[in-house]
Parts: sequence; structure tokens; C-alpha cells
Amino acid sequence: MNNHKLNRYKSHNMKQQLIHFTILAVGLWFAGLVEVVSQPVPVVQPSKIYFVSALDISQVQQGWGEPHADRSVAGNRLSIGGQMFTNGLGTHADSEFVINLGGNAESFSASVGIDDEVSKHGSVVFKLLGDADGVLWHSKELHGGDASQSVNLSLAGVKQLTLFVDSGGNHEFDHADWSDAQITMTTGKPTAGSILKEEAIVLTPKSSPKPRINSAKVFGVRPGAPFLYTIAATGDRPMAFAAEGLPKGLQLDEKTGRITGSVPEKGEHAVTLRAKNALGKAERKLKIICGAQIGLTPAMGWNSWNCFASAVTADKVKSAADAMVVSGLINHGWTYINIDDYWQVNRNAKDQTLQGPHRDATGKILSNPRFPDMKGLTDYVHGKGLKIGLYSSPGPWTCGDCVASFDYELLDAQQYATWGFDYLKYDWCSYAPEMESLRGNPSKFPAAAKSWSSSKPNELEKLQKPYRIMRAALDQQNRDILYSFCQYGMGDSWEWVAEVGGNSGRTTIDITDTWSSMAGIGFKQNGHEKFAGPGHFNDPDMLVVGKVGWGPNLHPTRLTPNEQYTHISLWCLLASPLLIGCDMTQMDEFTLGLLTNDEVLEVDQDPLGRQAARVAQNGEVEVWSKDMEDGSKAVGLFNRGYSAAPITAAWADLGLSGHQKVRDLWRQKELGRFSGSFTANVPRHGVILVRISPEK
Ligand code: GAL
Repeated sequence: MNNHKLNRYKSHNMKQQLIHFTILAVGLWFAGLVEVVSQPVPVVQPSKIYFVSALDISQVQQGWGEPHADRSVAGNRLSIGGQMFTNGLGTHADSEFVINLGGNAESFSASVGIDDEVSKHGSVVFKLLGDADGVLWHSKELHGGDASQSVNLSLAGVKQLTLFVDSGGNHEFDHADWSDAQITMTTGKPTAGSILKEEAIVLTPKSSPKPRINSAKVFGVRPGAPFLYTIAATGDRPMAFAAEGLPKGLQLDEKTGRITGSVPEKGEHAVTLRAKNALGKAERKLKIICGAQIGLTPAMGWNSWNCFASAVTADKVKSAADAMVVSGLINHGWTYINIDDYWQVNRNAKDQTLQGPHRDATGKILSNPRFPDMKGLTDYVHGKGLKIGLYSSPGPWTCGDCVASFDYELLDAQQYATWGFDYLKYDWCSYAPEMESLRGNPSKFPAAAKSWSSSKPNELEKLQKPYRIMRAALDQQNRDILYSFCQYGMGDSWEWVAEVGGNSGRTTIDITDTWSSMAGIGFKQNGHEKFAGPGHFNDPDMLVVGKVGWGPNLHPTRLTPNEQYTHISLWCLLASPLLIGCDMTQMDEFTLGLLTNDEVLEVDQDPLGRQAARVAQNGEVEVWSKDMEDGSKAVGLFNRGYSAAPITAAWADLGLSGHQKVRDLWRQKELGRFSGSFTANVPRHGVILVRISPEK
């Protein structure tokens, strides 16, 4: 888009005149009636009408793709409800375009709607925001195929106008057009402004050099299964560890703080962990429960997908494990290093490093050449006191068309255990219930459907079946393998993940690093709290802070600093698995601060295993609360709105009374004693996360 050129022809009238002039000239030239000579462009009085599409649209922030002048986000001619437009801004929700008017504008007009290129899909609300916060106008909820809605709004006195398209949470197919969008000025010109850049302030205080133990307070293991629990502790090294009350069969390495061995029999053991260095000592209780249930607190770790996706290699996985230790994340309880898709052979890869035999002669699955030594890799990761996971699908192929587990579930589970894996993400792709009749006859597999999304109650059994089959296969292994369901919430899976034996269950489609995706998913989790508990947590997908990219090229997350605080606070309140999605070898101070706040992480890891619920909502501000084991409440005051707002957490909504102590968890600071309610000013898209405890 050449803005300079377009800026020379700002007005609608002038553009029309030019078109007419050109048609006339070309017509006459064809007719041989004139000799076209270079003519100066006629001087026309500058008009006071300015097209939005002629401004610097590179300033538009949007949820997907690039903004286009006079074209849709996909580059087609603008078309809404069958009506074509030659002029306008094609964008994608959620999108924001700030325009500076200097208080000199008269009015704004446009015809808005979802572009016909997505047919009947998509739904958005267009909003015009003025100055500090006011919504000056909003459209009705517009869907793909709807006729455009017109707006003609007075802008008298408005200094800054923001064109906002709100996806309402799900931004799929939200190709949003501001057709014929124009601003009439009394004097001066409108200019594109940039969304206020937020400073990335690290709120997490530096860890003390004195010892502090941060690992989970409760840990489940099955009888006889290999045990690994690393005492996560911050503080200067060298540090000496001790553990009192360990059950028979377990040993502690006093230097590394790793507890290994196996517990032969069922039972509960109250252990006291201790850590000591030259500056002081720390103590924490740990309950070891030997029984059927593992994963008693949500998994904390890293997964390769949101950064490397199909570009993952064993070397990158090793570097991730190194980084988890070197960065100090391991001392805050981060444990799992999980390989997502693409450790297996890919069925149509052109890339040689993804090619090879799928399985050996006995049916054992083989890794691709990028992962030449799976056992060596798990040993490497375990050698650092960490755990390691991998990924498969119940269909014949994974989502990335790599070899998956259909009809080989038991052999695969055996192989994972033999290699030494501790975590399995099992992703629905390419499975269809109809395949069940093809067991034992792999040559007949259909070119399997990518997904089968029926969620009719009478189909529940079919949705659950492949997960039960792998559950049974894992149960036969003498290894504790955390089992993570990934089928995007089909059949309201949060209601039955626990019963089918999942340690976590995805409740959503994939997350991406935009506000609309993260907030859309996170705030939609309300209601699922009834189904979460120790050993079975809801999973709103992995974290999108730090450098992400889903492939070889990474970029800093597009979430603003406040949005990142919202992301981590909300996921901790939700008792969600915390799986870092960035390249851990490239974390800056801000990202590290987000991931190393022990008081915030404690909200996620609380032994009670409760998931927060929304207790109050007023427009775009929300209060969420989670019961903690010590009788306190972790409370998030969230502002989903466009500008800062005061938010009140009322005791009546939280089920509290009397005087309460309030502690700011990000800043790790007491805020004082409050009665009746607590109010804080919360930045745009930001959060204040507090712990409210009864006064002793
Ligand atoms: C998706 C899944 C992602 C990732 C990907 C791998 O279905 O939701 O988290 O695992 O498959 O292909």
C-alpha cells in the first residue's frame, strides 16, 4: 500500500475526479483524438474528507494476517452481504486502529461487516472508541453473510478515535471490513497513532539468597513405579537437602535434592523437606501418596509446540532441558520437558530428517532421524532432575501426519515406558470411531478424517473409547506416565476426563499469542471448575509468553506486558497445567519474572487442587476466586476493557466477612487489612492478583 501516493488524493471527490479524468483521457487516446502528453495533475482544493484506508495502516494491530487498504484481510475485493466496496480497511478481529484527530474531526462514517470471503462463518462486534475509554458506538453482532451495518457518528471534540473489532473470544473467520470508512475534518488531517506501548515492568521480586522450598506439597506415585521428585529450592548454592519421614524404598541425594527409588506399597507419608545454605535454612511439608492416582498438582514444564512445532529436534529438546536448569526455572518447580508432534516419522515428508521406517519388524514405533536415541534423550533429561514427555494420537496419524498409535496402543505404551517417558499428550487427530472395525487390518485405514466433532451425548462412549484404550495400555506399564488428553473439549470432555483416567484434558482449540485468543480461552473456563481436582485438571492450552513462533522463526509474544500478567495469573487460578511454550534459551528478564514468582505459582500448585470460578462480573471487569488449602482465597481482579478501571472484590461475592489481610502476589507485598471489600485500579487488559486471608 503506497500511503504517500494515496495521501495526495485524500478526498473521495478528488479520487472520483481523477478516475473520470483518466477514463476520458484513455478513451480519447484510443479514439486517436488526442495526443497524450504529460500533464500536471490538476490542482483541486484539499477536501476535508479522509479515507481511513489511506492512513498508515501498518499501525493496525490485529488477531490474524495483515491489514489491507481497499481489500479484505485475505486480499480480495471488499464484499459484505453480497455488496462490493471499492474503498475501506480489511482487517481481522480482534483488531485496533488508533487515529489521532486532535479534536478537529466532524464525523466518521462507514459500512461495516464480515467479508463474504468467509461465507457464513465468523461473528464480530465493531466498536468506535473515543479518547480515554468511551465506547462511542458499537454495531450489533454481525455474522458472515449479514448485510453491512452503516455508521455515521459525530466526532466533535474527540481527540483520539479507535476502530476496534471485537471477536467476543473466538476469532475464527472474523474477516472484518470497515468499508467506505472515512473521517470528515473541520481542519487538519487525521493521522494513524500507535497503541500505547506498555513498559515491561518486572513485578516479581528477586529470589532471596536464603533457601526457600518451592516444589509441590503433595505428590502421587503408584506402588513400585520409579520415583523422581526434585526438591525445588531457590537460594545460593551450595545447598544441603534433608528429608525426614521418607517411606521405605526412597533415597535422597543430599547435594542435588533429588528423591529417587520406588515405594513398594500403598499408603500416605508425611515428609519434612529441609534445605540449608550458608545464609539460612528452609522447611516444607510434603505428602507422598502412594496409590492409584498421580498428577496431584497440575504439571509444570515446557512443550516444544508453541515455539518449534514441526522444527523440533533432539538437540533443541536437550537445550530446553539445559535452559530449564541454567535459567533457574527448575528451582521454582518447573519439571517436564515435553516433545510434541514430529518426533515420529512423517508419512509425506520431503525433508529427509522426517523420513524412515515407521515401525520395526515387531511393530515397535521408531523415532525419526532427528531423534536418533530416545533412551539417551530421556536419560539426559532425567540426569538433570527433570522429567520428559512425548506426544501421539489415537488415530493412525498425528495432527502433523506423523506415525501415531491406532491399533498399536499397547506396543506404544510399552515403548514409551521402556524409553523412560513420564508424560503422554494424546491428541485426537485422524481418529474416527468407524476405524474401530478396522483393528487388525491396518491396510484398510481410510485416509482418516482430520477430526470427528460430533458431541451428541449418545456418542460420548465413542469419543471416550480411544482414550480408554490408551489408559488401559498405560496402566500395564511399571512407570508413572502422566496422561494428557487433547481433544479440544469435544463432548464437553471436562465432564468425563477424570472418569476416563486423564490427568488433564484440553478444553479448547489451540491458543495463539493474541489477546483475543488467550483471553477468549481463559475467561471461557468458568463453569469447568466443578470437574477439576487433584489428579485431573482442565487444560486451557499452553503458555504464550516469551519468544514463540510455531516453526523455525520465532517472535516475541504479541501479548502486551499486562496481558501476559493476566495470562499467567488466570492460568494459575484455573489450576491449569503450566506448559511454557517459548524458546527457553532466549528468555528475557520479563519472561523469567513471569515464570518465577513463587507466590503466584503456589496458587496453581495448591494441594487442594481447586479451579477458580468467576464470582463477579460487571461489563468488562471480572473477579475470579480460588479456595486455597490454608483457608485463604486467591483472587484475580481482571480488566478486559480498553482502559484502566477500578475493580472491587466484595466480601459478599467471595463468601467472606470481617477483616481480611490482602497480599499482592506479583509484588509479594502486604496491602493491608480490609473489611467488606478490596478495590484496586487495574490497567487495561491487566490484573491484580491477591491472596485474601482471615486475620489471625
Ligand atoms: C494440535 C494440538 C496442538 C499440537 C498440534 C501438533 O491438534 O492442539 O497443541 O499438539 O496438534 O500437531
